[in-house]
Amino acid sequence: MVHWTSFLPLLGSAVSVAAAATSKLPSAQVVPGAYIVELADNHDSDSFYSTLGSDDVAVKHRLKLDYKLFKGTSFQLKNVSDMDGAAAKIANMDMVMRMWPVRIFNVPKDEVIWKGTDGRTEFAQAALKKRQSGNATTDTFSTHVMTQVNQLRQEGVTGSGIKIAVIDTGIDYLHPALGGGFGAGHLVSYGTDLVGDDYTGFNTPVPDPDPIDECEGHGSHVAGIIAAQENPYGFTGAAPDVTLGAYRVFGCGGSAGNDVLIAAYNQAYEDGSDIITASIGGASGWTEDPWAVAVQRIVEAGVPCTVSAGNDGDQGLFYASTAANGKGVTAIASVDNTQSPQVLTNATYSTGNSSTESFGWTPGSPANWPNVSLPLWNVNNDPTDTANGCDAYPADTPDLSGYIVLIRRGTCTFVQKATNAAAYGAKYVLFYNNVEGLISVSAAVDGIEGTGMVTAEQGEEWVADLASGITVTVNIVDPKVAPIYIVSQPNDVTGGFLSTYTSWGPTYEVDVKPQLAAPGGMILSTYPRALGSYAVLSGTSMACPLAAAITALVAEVRGTFDPVELENVLSATSNPNLFNDGASTYPVLAPVAQQGSGLLQAYDAAYAKTVLSVSSISFNDTANLVQTTNFTIQNTGGDEVTFDLANVVAATGYTLEAGTIFPSPFPNELDTTGATLSFSEDKVTVPAGGSAVVSVTVSPPALDATRLPVYSGYITLNSTSDSLSLPYLGVVGSMKNATVLSAADTYLTTSADPNANPISGNQTFTIPSNNGTAPNGTAYPEVFLGLALGSSYVKLEVIPQTGYNTSSLGNIFGFPQVYLPRGGSVWEFNGQLEDGSFAPAGSYTFKVSALHIFGDMAKESDYDVTETETFAIKYI
Ligand SMILES: *[C@@H]1O[C@H](CO)[C@@H](O)[C@H](O)[C@H]1NC(C)=O
Ligand SMILES: *[C@@H]1O[C@H](CO)[C@@H](O)[C@H](O)[C@H]1NC(C)=O
Ligand SMILES: *[C@@H]1O[C@H](CO)[C@@H](O)[C@H](O)[C@H]1NC(C)=O
Ligand SMILES: *[C@@H]1O[C@H](CO)[C@@H](O)[C@H](O)[C@H]1NC(C)=O
Ligand SMILES: *[C@@H]1O[C@H](CO)[C@@H](O)[C@H](O)[C@H]1NC(C)=O
Ligand SMILES: *[C@@H]1O[C@H](CO)[C@@H](O)[C@H](O)[C@H]1NC(C)=O
Ligand SMILES: *[C@@H]1O[C@H](CO)[C@@H](O)[C@H](O)[C@H]1NC(C)=O
Ligand SMILES: *[C@@H]1O[C@H](CO)[C@@H](O)[C@H](O)[C@H]1NC(C)=O
Ligand SMILES: *[C@@H]1O[C@H](CO)[C@@H](O)[C@H](O)[C@H]1NC(C)=O
Ligand SMILES: *[C@@H]1O[C@H](CO)[C@@H](O)[C@H](O)[C@H]1NC(C)=O
Repeated sequence: MVHWTSFLPLLGSAVSVAAAATSKLPSAQVVPGAYIVELADNHDSDSFYSTLGSDDVAVKHRLKLDYKLFKGTSFQLKNVSDMDGAAAKIANMDMVMRMWPVRIFNVPKDEVIWKGTDGRTEFAQAALKKRQSGNATTDTFSTHVMTQVNQLRQEGVTGSGIKIAVIDTGIDYLHPALGGGFGAGHLVSYGTDLVGDDYTGFNTPVPDPDPIDECEGHGSHVAGIIAAQENPYGFTGAAPDVTLGAYRVFGCGGSAGNDVLIAAYNQAYEDGSDIITASIGGASGWTEDPWAVAVQRIVEAGVPCTVSAGNDGDQGLFYASTAANGKGVTAIASVDNTQSPQVLTNATYSTGNSSTESFGWTPGSPANWPNVSLPLWNVNNDPTDTANGCDAYPADTPDLSGYIVLIRRGTCTFVQKATNAAAYGAKYVLFYNNVEGLISVSAAVDGIEGTGMVTAEQGEEWVADLASGITVTVNIVDPKVAPIYIVSQPNDVTGGFLSTYTSWGPTYEVDVKPQLAAPGGMILSTYPRALGSYAVLSGTSMACPLAAAITALVAEVRGTFDPVELENVLSATSNPNLFNDGASTYPVLAPVAQQGSGLLQAYDAAYAKTVLSVSSISFNDTANLVQTTNFTIQNTGGDEVTFDLANVVAATGYTLEAGTIFPSPFPNELDTTGATLSFSEDKVTVPAGGSAVVSVTVSPPALDATRLPVYSGYITLNSTSDSLSLPYLGVVGSMKNATVLSAADTYLTTSADPNANPISGNQTFTIPSNNGTAPNGTAYPEVFLGLALGSSYVKLEVIPQTGYNTSSLGNIFGFPQVYLPRGGSVWEFNGQLEDGSFAPAGSYTFKVSALHIFGDMAKESDYDVTETETFAIKYI
């Protein structure tokens, strides 16, 4: 029997990918005709398919989900023309408890700052150093110093024997720094490929047992952050003695369905993983999302699960991503590395008769520099020329094939600059930067063989030499074999602060998100051998695996994998930091909705004698205010401890842009006014081995409730031993009062317009009847649905304009939709209604009703409603 009270998320009907009509309205994506079902007890995918067979419903099996914590299957409906009827039939089968459309998640778009030169092979031959336990060397890797990992490593804590499953693009386990093999005794000792190379997210996965990552790179980078072995770059992963499970969920095409993600999580759980991590997500904001629910069950079964918070910081507040937004799931925010690692290729130069000196550079694309030794030439010798080389070179320019052309960065593109040099025969160009640091330049221009970049200082020095008439001869060793080395520049602007891209919570139901923060911006780690072997990437994807590794180290010291205890100690011992907008730092703590508990402190968490009963507190919104709540302080130590309690306020963030129904994009307006807290006692003494309960009463700040300000801060518990902080947040105003539907962005459009622009009314759509085949160019009426905030229940009804005494024919097939994220989406109407029948030919409007957050489904007044222009349908 269908479980209607759980808001059966029905059946997206021929949903196309949303065209972002306005920048405020990003898109949601589902696979047309693909569904996940969860089955009642005593049923499995075999009984499901045999019942379907006898009912004559043709489906293509996607994935069996016969797991302890999730019993179901996913499938693709075969017959496109009567697919909606088939889906309705399936949803109404007795054994089907819940049914969801398959939703697609892309490989996170983490920024590639640098990656090694394709085809460099010396690392593959590098002697594989024996995996080392203990303190052989001091760990000075900046992300480890920032999070106290170095202090645990100093003591020989390395995560020995702990099984961490990585759900990602696979792992290049043949990489010498990732163990050089797969299976028992190797670093990557277990796992599987759930999808195969050709999987796109939309087609049927073709699993195989080999989870190698050769075409993508993301998972190999993540794996190295956890457990990279000794390597020529002198770093290791945070927990190099763990054993990794590789669960590959992306093909080479870069997207995965949530059925695959649910399967991967459950497989990793059943394979005995101690910790499961996924640097994957998509817009949601609802704890009820099916993937989030699947992960929640695994956490409740005793396995800590970390998921990256998302890279959508620009969207502002209430943009929690799934599965990070699940209850009990540990969502990981990103802070920027205090050091910007830069990998340089070594080369030399000589001036006049002087001896050779070395310099570092970054090869660009192309980088076909066989050993090249040529003098430098510059179109002018002005090191302040802001548009150096942007104009065509003068007619008296010599043949440049015997030179390396030196060009300052700026004003026009690298391609433009290289084209001007190539016009005079140049084959090699070196750009010098006009700001600090180096980047990988790209200038595919006919005739140009080699490109690259040197620092501003190096370029200016050479230009000064050239200006004094000195010949500068540069000797480039082929970058495929040249020595490379790493330099680190301190990041004085954003180092240690929250990354601007990190996604903000809370969930629409005011659950605290994210939980913890770890370094994720400018991270050096391993990369597939075929893609350069090493890379520097930025994203919450890089923060999440470090948090998983730290969870392992702390679990090793504390002797428990209890997800609640681990999250609570990790949260209480983290360091909240000030707000930074990417350019400046402000004298107020960053909101909990951005940084959670703050930057992880592994050593303090491992040895904290005090354990709080919660990792955070939500006071909810004013309408549902949890005025007084409590938490327990447990003292596991041998001495009595007295704590001083205080409230340290963090910045309050306004959710909505003044005078609009839309959330402000980052950096949203902040206010330093926070909540006032009072405690049952300001000084709490907890006996050795005992515990004490503290009750907390909140007075939210008096701020403009129509803009839904989110206030937050930290309850600090200071003592002469542990000093802890407990994050809290709440919303001023009523989530239920907020408008969720943007009527101005909800309108009639047509499938003939891929950009989904509005169309005028009174157009007739001639469409095939239920058993017909659509001729080429058939246009269907569509609705563009614009949600300013998420909605847990959305109706899309067909309203007859003539000839009926009924006011509504009910929803179009596929509606109601439940737990939609905010943003825009496009929904097509092929004439079929919610019950599978077809609307008669006639004249209609669409009526869209979106339920308010915390609204009552049964109450008309809890919906935002709008009606589109009139349209007519006629059947062929
Ligand atoms: C769908 O099934 C019907 C009846 O079995 C068949 O006539 C029709 O050709 C099929 N359509 C497609 C697109 O496969
Ligand atoms: C690491 O060093 C610490 C103190 O310097 C020492 O107590 C510990 O035994 C060492 N661990 C190993 C595995 O050598
Ligand atoms: C670069 O090459 C020069 C000359 O071979 C050498 O002296 C120098 O040590 C190298 N520098 C680095 C950082 O490898
Ligand atoms: C806030 O209150 C609403 C309404 O009672 C409830 O549904 C929601 O779960 C609450 N949120 C939290 C985090 O407790
Ligand atoms: C703490 O709060 C819970 C509910 O949140 C309540 O049941 C309990 O009685 C409270 N305990 C104390 C000591 O106030
Ligand atoms: C506890 O320490 C923090 C950080 O040093 C400080 O901000 C807070 O005011 C202290 N609380 C009390 C009660 O002393
Ligand atoms: C919600 O809106 C109603 C009606 O406009 C208003 O009376 C009420 O005060 C609002 N509630 C909050 C918490 O803002
Ligand atoms: C559509 O037709 C109705 C009824 O004839 C008329 O009132 C309305 O203005 C028309 N709309 C458009 C956009 O032409
Ligand atoms: C198509 O459907 C119509 C009406 O439902 C029916 O009369 C007709 O026989 C069907 N045609 C086929 C080929 O099934
Ligand atoms: C429909 O379009 C496809 C591809 O554009 C073409 O191959 C096919 O012949 C067309 N069919 C008809 C009936 O025009």
